[in-house]
Amino acid sequence: MKRRRRGKIIAIDGPAGVGKSTVGRLVAAKLGYDFINTGEMFRALTWKALSSGVEVSDFPAVAALACRLRWEFRPTPDRTLKTFIDGENAAPYLREERVSSNSSAVAANPEVRRFMCRLQRRLGGAGEIVMEGRDIGTHVFPDADHKIYLDADIDERARRRYRQLKASGARAHLGAVREAMLTRDLNDLKRKINPLSQAADAVVVDSTHLTLHEVADKIVRMVRARRQRRDGSR
Ligand code: C5P
Repeated sequence: MKRRRRGKIIAIDGPAGVGKSTVGRLVAAKLGYDFINTGEMFRALTWKALSSGVEVSDFPAVAALACRLRWEFRPTPDRTLKTFIDGENAAPYLREERVSSNSSAVAANPEVRRFMCRLQRRLGGAGEIVMEGRDIGTHVFPDADHKIYLDADIDERARRRYRQLKASGARAHLGAVREAMLTRDLNDLKRKINPLSQAADAVVVDSTHLTLHEVADKIVRMVRARRQRRDGSR
């Protein structure tokens, strides 16, 4: 039986650095929905594992750590849900290099994925949410009302991430950013449990030659058009 929700769920999946977060936040703001970047949940757990001496390859220990932590998702004024762990805002640690490079190992842990999936379903259960990640449309919310698979050329994705890092004052090398991105994509694509993949009923949007504002407008137009078609057919 299909679960009843108050509002819609918009799932945005795709590889690293494709602009899912920026697009997701813009779409959510235009529709008056909540927004969550589920990658931050895996990153927050990676940060906690690294800072408490838990080996990311020790799957049972990382899964036990996830269960011990107190997870909270507090909304910012623009309705972005930010991850707090044991009362502490995880945001300052999430983009550390060591967190980025270890996060796909944490995300390959089946127990951790089950734990995150439960949290994500609880967060999105009421609807009116844009949720972005790798497996939202395929696994977390296979019955999402709208599924977008956002893609872009690897060189363009690497350039975007490089500019982001530079703008935040970090030291970065374009070639190294590209390599790290390819490694993370490969890990996400080949993992056994809920790999990055395109849902059969997802709309593919290629953002290589579009600005992220243009991509967000395109998605909002799609959502509104479908709403109008549905309302018109009643
Ligand atoms: O989106 P972001 O690149 O910040 O995500 C960090 C890592 O978390 C990814 O490399 C991926 O391995 C993992 N992830 C995932 N499933 C999601 C979101 C992120 O496996 N729904």
